[in-house]
Amino acid sequence: MKIFVTRQIPQPGLDALKKEFTIDMNLSDRVLTKEEIIKGIKDKDGLLCLLTDPIDKDVIYAEPSLKMIASYAVGYDNIDIAAATKRGIPVSNTPGVLTETTAELAWALLFSVTRRIVEGDTFTRTGNFKGWAPMLMLGQDVSQKTLGVIGTGRIGTAFALKSKGFHMNVLYTDEQRNEQLEQQLGARRVPLITLLKESDFISIHVPLTKETFHLIDEKELRLMKKTAVLINTARGPIINEKALTRALSEQWIFGAGLDVYEKEPEISEELKRLDNVVLQPHVGSGTIETRTKMALMAAENMIIGLKGGIPPNCINKEVFHKKSIT
Ligand code: DGY
Repeated sequence: MKIFVTRQIPQPGLDALKKEFTIDMNLSDRVLTKEEIIKGIKDKDGLLCLLTDPIDKDVIYAEPSLKMIASYAVGYDNIDIAAATKRGIPVSNTPGVLTETTAELAWALLFSVTRRIVEGDTFTRTGNFKGWAPMLMLGQDVSQKTLGVIGTGRIGTAFALKSKGFHMNVLYTDEQRNEQLEQQLGARRVPLITLLKESDFISIHVPLTKETFHLIDEKELRLMKKTAVLINTARGPIINEKALTRALSEQWIFGAGLDVYEKEPEISEELKRLDNVVLQPHVGSGTIETRTKMALMAAENMIIGLKGGIPPNCINKEVFHKKSIT
């Protein structure tokens, strides 16, 4: 069987795939266009794609031999799952292995913004540090403050649990109760409005869907404390970036830490000019260990899926129910 890999992933994943399949891989270090992906999957049985690849109806219906899509990401808002399901193609993702790593980046951003780490680094490197000063680069305390977690699935839960050493008051908003957080941290499930008004630090951990698009807009930003810090390691379009840029430049809030952007990889010059935002290049899962585990997981799903089994991390398991009924 033949598979198409849209960009180089860590070698252990490729080695596992090579043992089973003939691989055609995009060797250029760039995101392919939709047309290039369609060309790439010609006569292929499997597609291993990334979160940057637009896997829409056109791609899904382009190649009759396509039988399996393994995505090298946990988020799958770039894939038309309904279309894949309709065509009977299982789609897998990489949940679990990147949970702690992404939660760690959210904390890294939280501290970077709150203690003004990037500003301080630039200040020091550029020769402005002339000695200790009582009012120099003052940030805010984290311990004993209120932490607001929007979405307490795997990553949101891991992020919240890491607050333990800081003895924080934890608020969360989610469709479901999170008993683990309630028992271990005394966390309280509250409506989004309450969370926005009462939290000192707010971190977003929901997937991007029609419902979460611009979940944080001007109205929500105006509800936050003037000292609040907003962190987003989920997906860019969950925040209205124009409204956030205004909130930061007019100091409605203290600062923000972003790993994801509304029109990724484009970032407005206005946002880039601001000192009270720390920007990262979508590296929530970006550690050697985690990216390797993601590659192995994507490979395992592809191998099991193409051998006719149910991929362990299949998103659209209905595909198999349909198959067993017909
Ligand atoms: C994912 O897997 O969805 C993450 O955004 C990658 O860092």
